Amino acid sequence: MTVLDIYTGMKEKLRDIVPEPELRIKAELAYEINRLKAERNAVILGHNYMEPALYYSIPDFVGDSLELSRKAAETDKDIIIFCGVRFMAETAKILNPDKTVLLPSEKAGCSLAASITAEDVRNLKAQFPGVPVVTYVNTYADVKAESDVCCTSSNAAAVVKSLGSEVVIFLPDEYLAKNVAAETGKKIIFPSKGFPGNGGDFQLIGWKGRCEVHEQFTVADIENVRKQFPDVVVLAHPECSPEVVGASDFSGSTTAMERFVRESKAARYLLLTECSMGDNVAAANPDKEMLRLCSIRCPHMNQITLEDTLEALRKTQYVIEVPEETRVKAARAVERMIAIG
Ligand code: 13P
Ligand code: SF4
Repeated sequence: MTVLDIYTGMKEKLRDIVPEPELRIKAELAYEINRLKAERNAVILGHNYMEPALYYSIPDFVGDSLELSRKAAETDKDIIIFCGVRFMAETAKILNPDKTVLLPSEKAGCSLAASITAEDVRNLKAQFPGVPVVTYVNTYADVKAESDVCCTSSNAAAVVKSLGSEVVIFLPDEYLAKNVAAETGKKIIFPSKGFPGNGGDFQLIGWKGRCEVHEQFTVADIENVRKQFPDVVVLAHPECSPEVVGASDFSGSTTAMERFVRESKAARYLLLTECSMGDNVAAANPDKEMLRLCSIRCPHMNQITLEDTLEALRKTQYVIEVPEETRVKAARAVERMIAIG
């Protein structure tokens, strides 16, 4: 593909979203990335939250956390470049110890992953002995290593049900846990230090981590938009509060939301999620109107740019490493999740 081919493809999709002069510069960057990617036998995985010019030019695969974990597990390339955040790149490394996994920015973290440590999980296990631990993939490798099984937003309730255990520890997202509790009919608690442990009336034990993007959406946001556009279909990511999810028409992972819009015939949608994803869905559905509260960009996903991805390929940076003992334990939890689906 020439620079002109890439530019033409981008312009077709993004003419109403990215200014034309910017598209020209980004097409040149994308051309160089794709050339180097082939030369270095690399694969690029792009999360649905990547900025539109990147999302529509360089990834070999785009998707939600679960889909990208699957692609990471299947690849035969030597280098995996993860255009996403650190916990996602770590998951790729956990599944591919012999490959080089690169994250284009060292600053691409996550407020949920930062909300809990491996020691926190060990303390909870000591407080609730024998209770299985499910951790959201939005955690670091040492936290995954303390878990029985991981989950993503697209399979959280299915993973909890698959354990066949009355009581489950579910970490670290408070809102996802509350949404899972509602879906599975379990009563949830958030124990503090000194909480007596087993024996109370609860079946889910949560943690008060939050996504700094999704916690900002409110029921009032939905009501205001519905007042103005009564026909709007509202979609919310399950990291939003249960009240927001309850006031929405659909809740699902980033890919589930994208699929919902693609397959639905409604004319107008409100996406309560990260705002580049709104741009990407709008670009793929030009006949449908996306109403977005588009002031909420994930500051971590925003770190990943075409410029940094090119530097990552040129300089082989930033290499993701996971200590082998941690990796082996974390791999069990991730592979168990992938097997559940
Ligand atoms: P998905 O697994 O739905 O893609 O979500 C990842 C994420 O970080 C959402 O904030
Ligand atoms: Fe983490 Fe939220 Fe950003 Fe997703 S959107 S990476 S959960 S901070």
